[in-house]
Amino acid sequence: MTTTTLAKGPTSAETIHGQKELLLPSMLHLYKEPLVLSEGQGVRVRDPEGHEYLDLFSGILTTSVGHCNPKVVDAVTRQMKTLGHVSTLYATEPQVEAARKLADIAPGALKTSFFTNSGTEAIETALMMACLATGRSEIIGLRVGYHGRSFMATSVTAHSGWRPLATPVAGIKHAKSPNPYRCPFKQPCDDTCVDKFVDDLEEVIVTTTNGRPAAFIAETIMGVAGYVVPPAGYFERAAEVIRHYGGLLVIDEVQAGFGRCGDHWFGIQHHGVDPDIMVMAKGIANGWPVGATIATEEVANAWKGKTISTFGGNPISMAAMCATQDELRDHDAPHNATARGEQLRSALLEMQGRHPWMGDVRGMGLMQAIEIVKDPETKEPDKERTSRLMEATREEGVLIGLGGLHGTVIRIGPSLLISEDEMAEGISKLERAVDRVG
Ligand SMILES: Cc1ncc(COP(=O)(O)O)c(C=O)c1O
Repeated sequence: MTTTTLAKGPTSAETIHGQKELLLPSMLHLYKEPLVLSEGQGVRVRDPEGHEYLDLFSGILTTSVGHCNPKVVDAVTRQMKTLGHVSTLYATEPQVEAARKLADIAPGALKTSFFTNSGTEAIETALMMACLATGRSEIIGLRVGYHGRSFMATSVTAHSGWRPLATPVAGIKHAKSPNPYRCPFKQPCDDTCVDKFVDDLEEVIVTTTNGRPAAFIAETIMGVAGYVVPPAGYFERAAEVIRHYGGLLVIDEVQAGFGRCGDHWFGIQHHGVDPDIMVMAKGIANGWPVGATIATEEVANAWKGKTISTFGGNPISMAAMCATQDELRDHDAPHNATARGEQLRSALLEMQGRHPWMGDVRGMGLMQAIEIVKDPETKEPDKERTSRLMEATREEGVLIGLGGLHGTVIRIGPSLLISEDEMAEGISKLERAVDRVG
């Protein structure tokens, strides 16, 4: 691990002490002892003691154009000196420009945006919008899906560890997760299973709702679930089913959006389906708090009541978003994600050949995961080995994430601008950790 000398500030131990004393204890950390970070540049971050880490998780797939990207820093600094805040009661050019950039790259007829401060709020906006546009109130989500931390978002989330309340918002039901690795219908999962997953969605609608759902909401790659990639054909058929029952298709691109899956700007474009409403956050503004909900004009115009957001569409956040989008476009992020994703995936598959506990290697573009199991036949999740691997990667100086229902899926998702050499360096650090654990 590389170490550099830094200006004197609080030590890691002091920060951890403060965190334990003053912050909500239920906040998740990835290691036995929390890792304190104090500086970042590009794909590298450092702790207060000067230890450097290659960041392959980018603050949960968020620093899409790298830590402290100079173009984003410049845009934010300029905007801070010009106009810092007005609220949505006033029109500003940065907000219009940000909406124009989204409309330019969004699929189908998606055109009208509303900006918030997080993915959670953008999900709330999308579901409210779907209910207003249809005059209905029941929502179908997917089991093991994750959509945020509010009352409504935890209710549409179907992952016990992320659902603190026993009595969630009423009127939300969950269909089977289209997870090929753990397909309940057939092993190995094949094309015939798509029909069965879609039949299950339809059965949920006709048996557990009044048959008039407002919307079906799904992530194109299920992020917190451990990068579960629904099989080809699933979204096309699911869209037919929800529309047959008069509901809208709401697509959550909070993790998968902005080139992350490779080749296209959004995950849903790999499936040739146009959503009625789409939700974005995380990598949209390189770490500035921006959530966005975009809808067709028809759907958006159904919102007749008043709405404001004090901080949503804030000029500084919008300037950060515009600069981030320009960087993603100028560096052709979707194609870099494809190339660097292939580099990473072939290395992971090679490691899997040596280590049968790497039960599944999956993902698209720069969203690649390893599911860790005790035995590739039984697929029993291996928490103990996962925890050892997390500690080993920290010691080797590389940051990765965790996910999956049992917390046994390694998630990798670096900056979309990562170079070939940086990826090679990350792979060799990861490989050393994997071999140590093996
Ligand atoms: C797919 C998905 N949707 C929504 C959210 C909520 O976003 P936020 O944490 O910004 O509220 C997340 C966060 O991880 C997410 O992964």
